[in-house]
Amino acid sequence: MKTFTLPGTELTVPNVVLGLMRIQEKTDEEVRTLVKTARDAGISFFDHADVYGSALHGCETRFAEAMQLTSSERAEIVLQTKAGIVREGPYFDYSYEHLVESVEGSLAALGTDYIDILLLHRPDALVEPDEVARAFDDLSAAGKVRAFGVSNHTPGQIELLRKSVSQPLVANQLQLSVTHAPLVAQGVAANMQGLDQSISRDSGTLDYCRLHDITVQAWSPFQAGFFNGVFLGSADYPELNAVIDRLAKKYDVPAIAIATAWITRHPAQMQVVLGTTNPERVAGAALGSDIPLTRAEWYEMFRTAGYSVP
Ligand SMILES: NC(=O)c1ccc[n+]([C@@H]2O[C@H](COP(=O)([O-])OP(=O)(O)OC[C@H]3O[C@@H](n4cnc5c(N)ncnc54)[C@H](OP(=O)(O)O)[C@@H]3O)[C@@H](O)[C@H]2O)c1
Repeated sequence: MKTFTLPGTELTVPNVVLGLMRIQEKTDEEVRTLVKTARDAGISFFDHADVYGSALHGCETRFAEAMQLTSSERAEIVLQTKAGIVREGPYFDYSYEHLVESVEGSLAALGTDYIDILLLHRPDALVEPDEVARAFDDLSAAGKVRAFGVSNHTPGQIELLRKSVSQPLVANQLQLSVTHAPLVAQGVAANMQGLDQSISRDSGTLDYCRLHDITVQAWSPFQAGFFNGVFLGSADYPELNAVIDRLAKKYDVPAIAIATAWITRHPAQMQVVLGTTNPERVAGAALGSDIPLTRAEWYEMFRTAGYSVP
């Protein structure tokens, strides 16, 4: 497993991490096997959110109840969680009270006295950056949160936060898979008239994150679109799957490793956030941590996923 020091922190992190959004219905044994498989593959970084699960803090609670981590086991892993979504509504809330209350809930649910990284989950149109800064300062001073970041944020939204927030924003978690790659694809087709791909939907977020040492974390790395099923093995992507299968043979790994490698091969040093609850898939995806896809291979996947290389 390829690891690196997460810029803005002293954490050594893997470039493939495990998201735990889908573990609510899993038994203790299933959660333990999933996490053990991840740990054996070098995945020591786990992604949560207050809103994952059937109830608030549901998946965080499920994780902690199943794992019963000792303090030394806790110290060996990176626990990241998110705040800012109110499910009933739904709406977004970056107020001081909401952020602090959410973190208190996550600490209790996870059975830990600190969160390694807290992400602001989805941009709040009513954000007041000074209030976010006050929440971050208090959470940081109390030792409850060690590092901060964002998710689904544009450069302008990050700049606005940075005006008030004194801590570095270390991560931006964004949707990215080979078939859902506007982050990457727009730049490849910049300034092309009449081509949908060339429309900027995120104001250059990827380049901005690279410029400011904000690590991009790719969520839904195997989903074709927005939670509409995976592209791997899908009849909707015959050419892409043929390429993936060919590369899987070449590199002697399962197909899921090639889908992972399409993201890890990018020089931005992104982290891939897996969402599978299947241990075999976790182990297979982890093999994609450091596969040296050539430029020709990387672009072939990109083209057969439906993107233009003008
Ligand atoms: N920041 C955000 O806004 C945001 C949004 C969504 C997600 N996330 C994070 O990103 C993580 C990943 O998201 P995701 O679960 O949507 O991503 P994903 O890894 O692309 O999708 C996993 C889902 O696809 C299913 N699946 C079916 N066939 C599969 C195959 N061949 N290979 C892999 N998976 C297959 C999995 O089922 P099985 O479990 O049966 O394998 C699971 O339900 C989440 O856990 C969460 O931590 C963040």
